[in-house]
Amino acid sequence: MQLILISGSTRQASTNTAVLRSVQQMAPTGTVLELYTELAALPAFDPDADRDPLPEAVDRLRKAVASADGVLFCTPEYAGALPGSVKNLLDWLVGDVVLTDMPVAWINVSSVAAPTGGAGAHGELRTVLGYVQAGIVEEACRRVPMARTDVNDGVVTSPSLLAEFEQALRALSAAARRSAGE
Ligand SMILES: Cc1cc2nc3c(=O)[nH]c(=O)nc-3n(C[C@H](O)[C@H](O)[C@H](O)COP(=O)(O)O)c2cc1C
Repeated sequence: MQLILISGSTRQASTNTAVLRSVQQMAPTGTVLELYTELAALPAFDPDADRDPLPEAVDRLRKAVASADGVLFCTPEYAGALPGSVKNLLDWLVGDVVLTDMPVAWINVSSVAAPTGGAGAHGELRTVLGYVQAGIVEEACRRVPMARTDVNDGVVTSPSLLAEFEQALRALSAAARRSAGE
């Protein structure tokens, strides 16, 4: 069983990527958790380019998602909405039916001080994933406010936060296993 982990931040010291790196370290035996690292390599979505041969980074993205049994997102909010790079990634996946029925979830770690708590970004994620009829795993969608000080050496250090992420991972993994017929 394989999950792909997609961070919506390309920032070197990203808290969202740190969450996914920490989740990756929790992989139970028999589960592959792949951290997607090519968000910044994707060209701007162009319907005219959505045909063979696809831009290489898009081809790799589609193959990575198609070979996964589920997707976990962790994204910041920019200006009340999804980062443009994440919407762009989703736009490249919409034309393909790769996300339809696929178990998906997101962890929202916007800080408690964030004005909207990331509600705009995560609402948009729900809209787009709903549009493609992905299988949103509600139990795995978590709002877990986090501070930058909860990250050290690129991973999350707080045991209580890690416990929440593990619950989300368990719920998504269970749905992905069911969907993969395991
Ligand atoms: C241009 C910009 C716009 C932002 N807009 C919002 C916002 O609308 N709502 C919010 O909760 N945080 C906002 N933030 C704060 C980010 O969510 C915060 O910096 C977060 O830690 C970024 O995630 P990262 O650590 O994974 O890079 C914004 C940050 C930047 C750089």
